[in-house]
Amino acid sequence: MRILGIETSCDETGVAIYDGGAGLLGHRLYSQIALHAEYGGVVPELASRDHVRKLVPLIRELLLDLGLTLKDLDGIAYTAGPGLAGALLVGSAVANAMAFALDIPVLGVHHMEGHLLAPMLEASPPSFPFVALLVSGGHSQLVRVDGIGRYTLLGDTLDDAAGEAFDKVAKMLDLGYPGGPRVAQLAAQGSGEGLGFPRPMTDRPGLDMSFSGLKTFTMNAIAAGPAEGAAKQSHAANIAAAFQDAVVDTLVIKCRRALKQTGLRTLVMAGGVSANQVLRSRLEQSLGQMKAQVFYAQPEFCTDNGAMIAYAGYCRLVAGQRSGYTMTAQPRWALTSLPAA
Ligand code: KG4
Ligand code: ZN
Repeated sequence: MRILGIETSCDETGVAIYDGGAGLLGHRLYSQIALHAEYGGVVPELASRDHVRKLVPLIRELLLDLGLTLKDLDGIAYTAGPGLAGALLVGSAVANAMAFALDIPVLGVHHMEGHLLAPMLEASPPSFPFVALLVSGGHSQLVRVDGIGRYTLLGDTLDDAAGEAFDKVAKMLDLGYPGGPRVAQLAAQGSGEGLGFPRPMTDRPGLDMSFSGLKTFTMNAIAAGPAEGAAKQSHAANIAAAFQDAVVDTLVIKCRRALKQTGLRTLVMAGGVSANQVLRSRLEQSLGQMKAQVFYAQPEFCTDNGAMIAYAGYCRLVAGQRSGYTMTAQPRWALTSLPAA
């Protein structure tokens, strides 16, 4: 079964084709970063309009590159949520129209399930059951995963998501958008030692997280530092490092706790923040000590992309699941409400 995957939930237009026998055949990504940069964040209406402009040409390019035609497709998967309503509707409309015209099945995929399954595209994929740490711009969750659609929520953020905190700190430091990679880059030039950043909610039991206090702490630490010149620059680098250390430590502590609580020895990390190199290496080091293994996707499949949607869609379409040609866009959608496949 050969599936076209379409991702348009936020500021990336992603398309990919996944084949049940040969694996991922190819993918294409168009990022809207330049479009939103001057506004310091994603402008939903501009995002929708750009998906309208880019999606169909991107699908055409991908098919051409692969030497395929529309007739070679056996199904279409698109991100049906969560995400920006207008942006989701573009992918949903194109996917449903194409599938209807081609008389092939179509399925709306959960964006976070796409992230969660992205590490399955790697050469040595994890096997079920495992604990997943989902860390993106909108989510920070720990989930027990017993199979596709067999998800138990273990912990969630009470306020900001980890990626959202990175983005807000980037704004405070005038690093622009997108924040995560820029904070990480600046952090590499500084040291967070001695700045006393807290590790939120690690002093009490449980797997829930909270990053908004850390954000306020960061704002105060910036205000308390030098106001200009080279001293301001090096203080900013130290703040970035201290903030990143605090987020990484907090996530590592929660992951260790989730593994202990479930008795599982496999952790899968997914979502945009899982591209963070410091998080990857500290998690590997720390979980290695407890004889647990960490899996994640290659960096380009950690952030939004079409490949993860094609793969998640494939897993469900091959199991016979279909949406019918009813256009779906669910800006809010709980991962735990999905059926098993
Ligand atoms: O999964 P994703 O691409 O989109 C959502 O589904 O939200 O995640 C985007 C988030 C942004 O908040 C971005 O700042 C963060 O992931 N991010 C990072 C890194 N790369 C992306 N955060 C920290 N370090 C990175 N290297
Ligand atoms: Zn995402």
